[in-house]
Amino acid sequence: MSRALRGEHPQVHPLPAAAEMVHATAFLLVLSLAVVAPVLSTGKCVLAGNWTNDLGSNMTIIMNSKCNFSGSYSTAVSETPEKIEKSPLRGSQNYRNLTQPVFGFTVNWTFTDSVTVFTGQCFVDETGKEVLKTMWLLRSHADSIKDDWTATRVGTNVFTRQPSQKE
Ligand code: BTN
Repeated sequence: MSRALRGEHPQVHPLPAAAEMVHATAFLLVLSLAVVAPVLSTGKCVLAGNWTNDLGSNMTIIMNSKCNFSGSYSTAVSETPEKIEKSPLRGSQNYRNLTQPVFGFTVNWTFTDSVTVFTGQCFVDETGKEVLKTMWLLRSHADSIKDDWTATRVGTNVFTRQPSQKE
């Protein structure tokens, strides 16, 4: 007669399922540590590298010295019908706090007669991810002084680091 028919509890094997869960949890823990550890270990936000923002624009920042940088900006959007071109940027970061630095840069658009200035701060968020919180002013060309009031737009962009591309 089976154990069930005899009124006994069927035999349960809790160990293999529990062991699998422990393995999976340990694996996820190691994986997440590997992703955030480089930033968490220093707690430092570094401007150099490739970034993408909430509009889908991409930029590359290259440090030229401790404070000054240059690079390029590919905007995903434009207020002109012109064909978008990758455009140069130049900027600087404040040297007094290089852990989560405050910075500013200018993009001089090559495909139209406007300029954008960005200012912001490089933060390490609660998950250990670097994020650039910025505000910008986009100055377009006004045909006359009377139209000056129409020519400046303001907004915000949040940039996150593009995942590094391995060959
Ligand atoms: C222009 O249309 O005059 C030039 C391109 C402007 C693109 C703006 S700059 C602020 C905002 N953030 C982006 O990534 N793109 C737009």
